[in-house]
Amino acid sequence: MSGRTKALVVKQSPPGRKPVLHDAVLEEQVIPQLTPGQVLVKINAVAFNHRDLWIRKGQYPGIAFGSTFGVVVAASERGDSLINKRVFLVPMRGWEKDPYAPESPKFTILGGGNVVPIGTFSQYVAVERDQVILSPEHLNDYQLAAWPLGAVTAWRATMVNAEVKKGDNVLVTGAGGGVALTAIQLCVAAGASVYVTSGSEDKIQKAVALGARGGVNYKSKDWPVQLGKLLAQHSGTGTQLDAVIDSGGGDLMGQIGKILKAGGKVVIYGMTAAPKINFTMREVLKNQRLIGSTMGSHQDLIDATKFLAHHRIVPIVSRVLDGLESAEEGFQILERGDHFGKVVIHVRHDDGKKTSSKL
Ligand SMILES: NC(=O)c1ccc[n+]([C@@H]2O[C@H](COP(=O)([O-])OP(=O)(O)OC[C@H]3O[C@@H](n4cnc5c(N)ncnc54)[C@H](OP(=O)(O)O)[C@@H]3O)[C@@H](O)[C@H]2O)c1
Repeated sequence: MSGRTKALVVKQSPPGRKPVLHDAVLEEQVIPQLTPGQVLVKINAVAFNHRDLWIRKGQYPGIAFGSTFGVVVAASERGDSLINKRVFLVPMRGWEKDPYAPESPKFTILGGGNVVPIGTFSQYVAVERDQVILSPEHLNDYQLAAWPLGAVTAWRATMVNAEVKKGDNVLVTGAGGGVALTAIQLCVAAGASVYVTSGSEDKIQKAVALGARGGVNYKSKDWPVQLGKLLAQHSGTGTQLDAVIDSGGGDLMGQIGKILKAGGKVVIYGMTAAPKINFTMREVLKNQRLIGSTMGSHQDLIDATKFLAHHRIVPIVSRVLDGLESAEEGFQILERGDHFGKVVIHVRHDDGKKTSSKL
């Protein structure tokens, strides 16, 4: 090992660039000296999250320029008893196991932050040894890179907040997203009847191939009516939704008002379609619940990973790009939104050897 690492760094865009798009620059940095209790993780694969794009667009709060990008890794690491074990990084700090919200007011996500200046779009990362989790054996490095951030978010939204269980009717909106896809896989494995929305027919069919019962295109004005008909066709499981897992926002409550059961839950973890969600007296009178959900705890991620290993769930990888040098292409794919699953980078090392397993 050279003692140096390549890392993708966010740099403030030149004044006047409209719309704002900060630069993502590959830099060479010195690998920091390990402090007691840390391990050095050799990164084999990293995955994009939509957050990375929000950061470049200047639409994510608390971002420190000059810090490294990224949140999710698969790796082989060096240090104490974990030497040569395949691990992945816990993508956040400050939330260990509180059932409702982070214990720490300084809760933060790796990548772009100034509280914990660690980003994972890098060849090597030094982290505390208790902030890595052993990899389930059935996943290769790319699939593993696709797991942690989406997993902890999807697990908390579906299993902790929506309390999805066998026989429930669940709608997952925006089926093509990394978090949404994991949510679909978790709910299907839990025995729920899963329905989806997407902006693409092709993505709906792919979600069905993963076990969803069916889906509708959110670009059609009458998608809630279409969804109601789909639910009626599968009346064996009831004709209303028990829960909705949403990343769109906007007028969702109004749209699904008639097909969400009284007392049903809408768990929202993102607002891709609109920066707010409407909640009216109509929902109050139906005892419907709207729950905000962000990431999850370290314990949630451990629980999700056990569930993944037990059900042999394989996270969906859309594309594998070759080398951190190709990061720009990844941002463009995210911007176009035509991916289905995670966009992953195979991280090259100085020896030029491919260290990751095949997809
Ligand atoms: N709170 C948290 O902890 C947390 C964690 C991760 C992500 N997020 C947020 O969740 C969202 C998705 O993140 P991701 O990483 O999964 O993103 P992604 O992989 O880039 O996917 C983008 C998502 O947006 C959906 N979408 C696009 N236009 C839409 C519209 N008009 N209405 C409804 N959905 C629309 C897409 O659905 P189709 O492709 O199927 O059309 C897809 O699900 C982002 O807003 C992100 O910031 C929040």
